[in-house]
Amino acid sequence: MRVVTVLGSPRRRGNTATVLAWSEQAWREAGHEVERYDIVDYIVRGCTGCYACQRPSAVPSCAQDDDANLILGAMAQADLIVLASPVYCWGVSAQLKALLDRSIALTHNYEGGSEYLLTDRRVALLATAGGGIEGNAELMLPPFERWVGYHQAINAGHLLVPACTEPEALSDDLAGAAHAFATAVLSAAPALGA
Ligand SMILES: Cc1cc2nc3c(=O)[nH]c(=O)nc-3n(C[C@H](O)[C@H](O)[C@H](O)COP(=O)(O)O)c2cc1C
Repeated sequence: MRVVTVLGSPRRRGNTATVLAWSEQAWREAGHEVERYDIVDYIVRGCTGCYACQRPSAVPSCAQDDDANLILGAMAQADLIVLASPVYCWGVSAQLKALLDRSIALTHNYEGGSEYLLTDRRVALLATAGGGIEGNAELMLPPFERWVGYHQAINAGHLLVPACTEPEALSDDLAGAAHAFATAVLSAAPALGA
């Protein structure tokens, strides 16, 4: 199975990167291919609202010439997509939000038909927060669920990690939780082959 992960944190070795790496290790150990995109290695500008992607003649890609199409293309080829982000102001990081906005280019509605390139892709969310879950990190879930639904994708689950300080302080229990999350989101994929 092909797992595409997108690290939305600007901190390459921060809390989110650390927890994501634990899950990635579990997927690799289970024999799956893991492809990571650290968003800070790429240029992903915000959506300009040009709607070029929705023109009848458009191919499903974004008209902007930066790295978004590369990452979106990889997501469209994945069996499982994992979006990983710190909680920034009760949502995903601005860097990841830009990519999620640009992903509208993977949907194409036109007279007589429509295409949704993430249809039936499993998508999971992993997030770390400085604060708690209730009234804070959990607020990321409704937009995530809407985004998955819009793409006709499948919500494979989420892991929200509260009370993070620095990566060194993340507990061994959390490494276990990241492994369990990795297993759970795979088993939430009944239609997929091994
Ligand atoms: C700009 C900014 C906004 C943040 N907003 C929140 C927030 O709304 N809720 C929260 O619990 N933590 C918030 N935090 C803390 C981060 O979510 C937390 O430190 C996270 O684990 C950082 O992940 P990273 O090390 O991968 O960057 C914020 C941090 C920054 C820098």
